Amino acid sequence: MSAGAVGFFLFLFIAICSGNNKEAKLRYYFDSFENFEEWPIYEATKILSTAWYNSTRTTVIFCHGFTGIPTGPAVTAVIKTYLEQGESNVALLNWDYLASKPMPSLASSYVNFAVPNARRLGVRLASTFLDLSEAGMDLNKTHLIGHSLGAHILGIAGNHLAAKGVQLPWITGLDPAAVGFENKAARLYEGSALFVDVIHTDPNKYGTSMPSGTVDFWPNFKSGWPIIQPGCGRKPAPALSKEDLCNHNRSWELLVNAIKYPDTLIGCHAKNYRIWKNYSKDERNAYTLAIGIHNITARAGNYYFMTNSEPPYGMAEDGL
Ligand SMILES: *[C@@H]1O[C@H](CO)[C@@H](O)[C@H](O)[C@H]1NC(C)=O
Ligand SMILES: *[C@@H]1O[C@H](CO)[C@@H](O)[C@H](O)[C@H]1NC(C)=O
Ligand SMILES: *[C@@H]1O[C@H](CO)[C@@H](O)[C@H](O)[C@H]1NC(C)=O
Ligand SMILES: *[C@@H]1O[C@H](CO)[C@@H](O)[C@H](O)[C@H]1NC(C)=O
Ligand SMILES: *[C@@H]1O[C@H](CO)[C@@H](O)[C@H](O)[C@H]1NC(C)=O
Repeated sequence: MSAGAVGFFLFLFIAICSGNNKEAKLRYYFDSFENFEEWPIYEATKILSTAWYNSTRTTVIFCHGFTGIPTGPAVTAVIKTYLEQGESNVALLNWDYLASKPMPSLASSYVNFAVPNARRLGVRLASTFLDLSEAGMDLNKTHLIGHSLGAHILGIAGNHLAAKGVQLPWITGLDPAAVGFENKAARLYEGSALFVDVIHTDPNKYGTSMPSGTVDFWPNFKSGWPIIQPGCGRKPAPALSKEDLCNHNRSWELLVNAIKYPDTLIGCHAKNYRIWKNYSKDERNAYTLAIGIHNITARAGNYYFMTNSEPPYGMAEDGL
């Protein structure tokens, strides 16, 4: 074993032994973003003895990506949107330490730390969901939403549950991560839940270019790379800067807009981009689907549309 590998395992050992704050947690929100209870996932069922769980509601659980934190822009936007909508039990899978950058290089932190942590967490999460189900949470009324690496964590959990004969109803993948997951079986795919909807906003770089769901939305797609979301720059920017993440972040911004402005973000079903581009106006309106809706009767496949360059992003029929 090389000195580097020894160092890495020693580091993992220390990470595992030094306690709770490094574990993945479920953060359960009451009426506001600031009012929550947080439990390590192996104690996740404790919440069910509180007033948090309303069995008539759908339970929405968001999972952030690499370097995500509970006060980051994606978590804040998604959690606040569902809290304001007021129709769901809202929670966050907070795996901030496991998703962090403990090594000097971003690339190495991603490949050697966050990705293997994500894979293990996905497997572990399957048991957490079974525990929650046993304790009274209706898994059939859940909506799991993951950004980037978070999409694969939920996908892997769904795959493990499916192998045990438990099918999750709904996973939304927001620009599922590309690196480390393409050509792998352990990732979000159409079999991870009964309905898997995926929004691809950065198929060039951080997000996968592989169809990964029952339905795949491809906003502002075009022939020829790169795919640039309107409002995002073309110039190279420092890795993980706001500019660098503009396309990748747009996936959660679109979901948030779809909830705030229903029926404004709709895609047109087409076999591929070229066929969509060639559609007449009538053909574009023939089969459409809104983002953010659990629609198990929707036609599987790819959906294309254009958006505005700033919120509200949705152009409704004008974007088809
Ligand atoms: C549970 O949720 C339903 C639907 O949103 C709502 O009508 C009801 O008041 C909630 N119950 C409690 C105890 O908050
Ligand atoms: C979900 O619903 C189906 C039938 O609609 C039922 O067979 C299954 O047991 C339910 N799953 C869970 C986890 O409650
Ligand atoms: C995109 O995400 C990064 C990292 O989470 C954040 O620094 C940046 O502010 C985000 N951009 C927008 C437009 O919210
Ligand atoms: C585009 O549409 C025209 C007219 O409907 C048709 O003749 C042509 O074959 C189509 N091209 C492609 C690439 O589908
Ligand atoms: C599901 O999609 C189909 C086809 O677009 C549509 O007719 C139906 O109204 C949709 N259902 C919901 C609940 O949106």
